[in-house]
Amino acid sequence: MEKRRRKSRSSIIGKRHRKMTEPQLSTRHLLGIRHLTPQDIELIFSQADEFKEVLRRPIKKVPSLRDITVANLFFENSTRTRLSFELAEKRLSADVVNFSAAASSVKKGETLVDTVNNILSMKVDMVVMRHASPGSAEFLSKKVTAAIINAGDGTHEHPTQALLDAYSIRERLGSVKGKKIAIVGDITHSRVALSNIYCLQKLGAEVMVCGPTTLIPRHIRSLGVKVEHDLMKALEWCDVANMLRIQLERQDSNVRYFPSQREYAMLFGLDKERLEALSHKIVIMHPGPINRGVEITSDVADSDQSIILDQVENGVAVRMAVIYLLAQMIPGRRAV
Ligand code: CP
Repeated sequence: MEKRRRKSRSSIIGKRHRKMTEPQLSTRHLLGIRHLTPQDIELIFSQADEFKEVLRRPIKKVPSLRDITVANLFFENSTRTRLSFELAEKRLSADVVNFSAAASSVKKGETLVDTVNNILSMKVDMVVMRHASPGSAEFLSKKVTAAIINAGDGTHEHPTQALLDAYSIRERLGSVKGKKIAIVGDITHSRVALSNIYCLQKLGAEVMVCGPTTLIPRHIRSLGVKVEHDLMKALEWCDVANMLRIQLERQDSNVRYFPSQREYAMLFGLDKERLEALSHKIVIMHPGPINRGVEITSDVADSDQSIILDQVENGVAVRMAVIYLLAQMIPGRRAV
């Protein structure tokens, strides 16, 4: 009995000691991948590995964040990111409040800072925000005391998408280092592309972007990526092709970037014929939502080379890791 009591006390002390000596992120917010170090990314991945184990158990929940309240503020539409964050928060036992701009007082003219300050007055510790304006997450981090997670800010960054993408490549191919990744599609209007470029390069991958000239930013080479306008050459070069959607909602409606979706699909759409013409097997990714028959056909999206649903599954574990690690950085928070 005494032995059991001693053992249980030492394991509690061990847990506290681990908490004090655990490696930490170099930042209190997740505003973009640009601000993370490669060590931060590796730390998120190893924490996500642990949470992936938890998600395989019959009870997919840990009590780690029962002292934390998270507000999910979505000023733009979302299916995957929003559900994935909410599930991640609930799996960590955090209290969760959800805010959708469409059903809020934003419609009555309330500013972003006023909206957020009102929510924070209700003792919220962490804010997950999606917003149409590039830089909105960084702006918010300078105005409020809560930890901020960027869930996509306009055409700028979508850091958790890039983390789950790189995590899924690591899972399928063993590592990201040395791998060749082609990002195909509307690079100009894509926050996924920029965050992926930063993340993959920090982990030692080579990155190529491929698409029509009108959808590739003129100065993209300054980020150290290759540029290709011939889809077959890009596919032949890469180990992984990440097929992006045409971001119609962010394009200038007065500009015609390509003649028609049909022509786009003919030149930049990935179908079975193109896949089978390659000299090697590549991994297919897509951040979603998919426009079947435009950037990717159904037989490719649903093939065994596709890891699209693995990306979605891994999103929960990766977001749990991000939230958990940022919660350790909240000043004055006691380990529970
Ligand atoms: N990948 C992604 O951001 O999807 P949602 O827009 O559905 O969140």
